[in-house]
Amino acid sequence: MLKFTKFVTLLSNYELIPDQMKVTVVGAGNVGATCADVLAQREIANEIVLLDIKEGFAEGKALDIWQTSPINLYDSRTIGSTNDYAKTADSDVVVITSGLPRKPGMSRDDLIATNAGIVKTVTENIVKYSPNAIIVVVSNPLDVMTYCAYLNANTDPNKVFGMAGVLDTARYRAFLASELNVSPKDIQAVLMGGHGDTMVPLPRYTTVGGIPVTELIDEAKLNEIIERTKFGGGEIVKLLGTSAWYAPGAAAAQMVEAIVRDQKRIFPVCAWLQGEYGMKDIYLGVPVVLGKNGIEKIIELQLNDAERALLVESADAVKSVMEVLDNMIANA
Ligand code: NAI
Ligand code: 2OP
Repeated sequence: MLKFTKFVTLLSNYELIPDQMKVTVVGAGNVGATCADVLAQREIANEIVLLDIKEGFAEGKALDIWQTSPINLYDSRTIGSTNDYAKTADSDVVVITSGLPRKPGMSRDDLIATNAGIVKTVTENIVKYSPNAIIVVVSNPLDVMTYCAYLNANTDPNKVFGMAGVLDTARYRAFLASELNVSPKDIQAVLMGGHGDTMVPLPRYTTVGGIPVTELIDEAKLNEIIERTKFGGGEIVKLLGTSAWYAPGAAAAQMVEAIVRDQKRIFPVCAWLQGEYGMKDIYLGVPVVLGKNGIEKIIELQLNDAERALLVESADAVKSVMEVLDNMIANA
């Protein structure tokens, strides 16, 4: 009986795999390789191309991932490429994880300049070979790198967006699950704003099995969890000496899944705002419906004054970093 149930589950998963979906992940480092691994294990795409600028690096990672297929019983093919974008041709979705971490002595502006150069070249190559691809940006600083990809992709902004909210919400949900000793599966939450210390977790939109979180946890503890979430990336950097990759890679893969399977999932995504929330020409984390066309709808929540003030503060922080990029482009 158990075996039969498993067979039916596998069969139903198999039937959900769309025909010949191709996904490219640029950057075969920690986040990129993890994302490719999750995509393969979960058969989210038939073909996964992992590309990196470092000679042989993506090929090595791709081969290692592919060699898990007989063990983990899946068919998705992962292939590697050293900067050969011809191999990425006709990708349905491209995830950009290429970029350098901030090094000692490097200013924030230096990091923006370096990573913007990388994201620009990568985006140009992607659209050359996959003009219809949906682009999911992961590289940091996230909001401005997503803007950079948009400026260079010359495509519908609903097809160029960034991954941060899925990760930040996952951290928030995981902390709540630990505190309440309940399944993380039952925790739903919305988090908005930029991918940084000004992000805005929203307790009023956080539920546990349908119960408002405020009925299950006292305010002081909830505020502690919110603060921990805001600095969740830094907490891992302190522990590891580098930034996280398991949750970021899985978060990007979950967004890809929503797109290739046209799931219409509601996720917080770094999206191009054109009047929503009273904001214009800014990439900011907001709840959206994600499906085969990319961002199919931006959901406008009825924020109260306090929530709105936090969102405006976060938007101002993002805007100032976007302006750094605008000035670099103007002075180039
Ligand atoms: P990593 O250093 O392990 O990997 C980056 C890879 O990019 C390297 O293998 C490097 O060779 C490659 N690369 C550099 N320039 C390239 C180019 N022009 N073309 C192709 N590949 C190139 O870094 P990791 O940990 O994988 O992080 C990747 C990025 O994701 C970083 O910018 C990091 O800050 C960001 N990140 C963003 C998160 C988010 O929530 N949005 C969460 C975690 C990381
Ligand atoms: C993270 O949130 C540093 O953006 C990276 O883990």
